[in-house]
Amino acid sequence: MPRKLFVTTALPYANAAFHIGHMMEYIQADIWVRLQRMCGHEVHFVCADDAHGAPIMIAAEKAGKTPQAFVAELSAGRKPYLDGFHIAFDNWLTTDAPENRGLVNSIYFALKGHGLIETRTIEQFFDPDKGMFLPDRFIKGECPNCGAKDQYGDNCEVCGAVYAPTELKSPYSALSGATPVLRHSEHFFFRLSDPRCVEFLEAWTQDGRLQPEVANKVREWFKRDEHGKVSLGDWDISRDPPYFGFEIPDAPGKYFYVWLDAPIGYLASLKNWLGKIGTRAEGEAVDDVFERYLADPELEQVHFIGKDIVTFHTLFWPAMLKFSGRKVPDRVYVHGHLTVNNEKMSKSRGTGINPLRYLQIGMNAEWLRYYIAAKLNARVEDLDFSAEDFMARVNSDLVGKYINIASRAAGFLSRRFGGRLSADIGVEGRVLLDGLRAHSDTVRELFDGREYGKALREVMLLADRVNEYVDAHKPWELAKQQGMEAALHDACTVCIEAFRVLTVYLKPVLPALAAQVEGFLGIEPLKWADAKRAIHHGGAHRIAEYRHLMQRVDARQLEALFEPPPEAAPAAAGPAAPGGEALAATIGIDEFAKVDLRIAKIVKAEAVEGSTKLLRLTLDIGEAQPRNVFSGIASAYKPEDLAGRLTVMVANLAPRKMKFGVSEGMVLAASHADEKAHPGLYVLEPWPGATPGLRVR
Ligand code: 2FM
Ligand code: ZN
Repeated sequence: MPRKLFVTTALPYANAAFHIGHMMEYIQADIWVRLQRMCGHEVHFVCADDAHGAPIMIAAEKAGKTPQAFVAELSAGRKPYLDGFHIAFDNWLTTDAPENRGLVNSIYFALKGHGLIETRTIEQFFDPDKGMFLPDRFIKGECPNCGAKDQYGDNCEVCGAVYAPTELKSPYSALSGATPVLRHSEHFFFRLSDPRCVEFLEAWTQDGRLQPEVANKVREWFKRDEHGKVSLGDWDISRDPPYFGFEIPDAPGKYFYVWLDAPIGYLASLKNWLGKIGTRAEGEAVDDVFERYLADPELEQVHFIGKDIVTFHTLFWPAMLKFSGRKVPDRVYVHGHLTVNNEKMSKSRGTGINPLRYLQIGMNAEWLRYYIAAKLNARVEDLDFSAEDFMARVNSDLVGKYINIASRAAGFLSRRFGGRLSADIGVEGRVLLDGLRAHSDTVRELFDGREYGKALREVMLLADRVNEYVDAHKPWELAKQQGMEAALHDACTVCIEAFRVLTVYLKPVLPALAAQVEGFLGIEPLKWADAKRAIHHGGAHRIAEYRHLMQRVDARQLEALFEPPPEAAPAAAGPAAPGGEALAATIGIDEFAKVDLRIAKIVKAEAVEGSTKLLRLTLDIGEAQPRNVFSGIASAYKPEDLAGRLTVMVANLAPRKMKFGVSEGMVLAASHADEKAHPGLYVLEPWPGATPGLRVR
């Protein structure tokens, strides 16, 4: 019986390009989907941009764009990544789409109808400068537990304490630096603490559908205190304007929190896709097709996600679905994070690996697919990309063991036998091939159970067997001996047939390579069942000339991958020189590192009596004493425009005695070389989230 599968990955925030961690998740899901398709199962595999929320709204504002335009531009840049790494999503939507609005509203009203939505007035921090309530991420201050400075509004990165933003000491807005004030506001809550929700979720999370470590972790939410109360609390699903999101239909001026509409985006993308592929009976509405599809009890709904978003997917999301009368997820497959050379990825800087650069310098996408697959298992473990390990696995296993089989046999077949396979392959060959075919169920089950590393180890052991066969039969010697034509023909035929079987097993991981092999062997696209079938029919099958299928990784490529992209060649001084001046001479990273740049908060800015150029700035970079810096920016800024803002300063510049006092550093600002012809002076300001003292590098 073919399975019916609806598969998603997490929906990426539309505020940044993909990093290598995204690609890992997509590769994991894509391999699984391709396996299912090869087995004849029906899969709809969809994704979307997660468009809403305050961070995206703020990023769009900074970029001087509407959030819609900002998201659309980012979304348009997704394709080279997805195509480049052969990620076969059927559909890509945005959570800002009309389909999503419709579904969000209907789910909201259904929850409300069940008495699971409640409004409460809460106190929240409001940024008086920006005129908006501050999301937790945009409030910083001292940890109420350990006193660490510049901690986020929800938890302390130093001591790990979890608290409400209102508990922070000396809070400030990360957007404006202003001291936030408490304001009342009415919020909407999804009553997860309702006994119906608790009962459903406890059963759903603990019935064996989740990975054991995930089930254990979420079990914490159901521990009872002495009053029998669980720690699972109600969930705040509304936000106040300005907010980029869907307005709550019966509460104008209130918006749904991004995490309410994001997972509903899974359904919206599916619905949009079903509308596109046109499976409608005559006169049937897309709504009906979609609801009919989801109502099918045979349908399996599967989400691939990272470990950081487990609560959203194992508590909020199933509860939303359940109590709006919908199908609940069958599986939530959680993976760990990707580290590169054992360094944790920084959200803002990503890792040393830029996926597009990987492709641009000519590295093969399937090396990465293979390497990631070889390291993945079904547990929630972090996975490390190590350059040495990458090279070893690709070169020794993938190329050295698997590709090698074809290259060892194909030449003889075309030169000596016109590309024709032999009709009879002898007992030994048949035993070898039967042995390979006998693993088809095991390998399939390992892939289906997301034990990709184990699956590939199996396949490489099988490749070892084939290579042993080649070593034992020595086609290169048979080729030189008189009267050994038939033996040579048989041995090479066995190799090619073995290579085809292994290609079936590797096809979920290496779809582009498999397509090349299909062309070279002159066969239809391989399905899983083809592993057990023989290719040749009475010796009539003819293969094409062998062309090398895959290069080895060159160490220089890995070096290039981790090098920063080549600098623009020093511009020849001339009319086109950027900013009116040729680039300065090239320096090495070491020289750059000598300049210590820090995020500084402008605590105070004052006019300097007797100077029209200078302002006196008091800068906080997290030291015991603030710095005094004279800066030549009076022509462009009024002191009151600067106080409270963040900027970048050179913090290790030797103090300089000036007419008005000692200057203990320098603030960075941009200007044209010819200031008279091109007036304009722009002080640098970091993106939201930066805090005083952070080094700029
Ligand atoms: O963590 C994230 O990147 C979120 N944008 C994931 C959303 S998944 C789903 F719920 F939409
Ligand atoms: Zn702390």
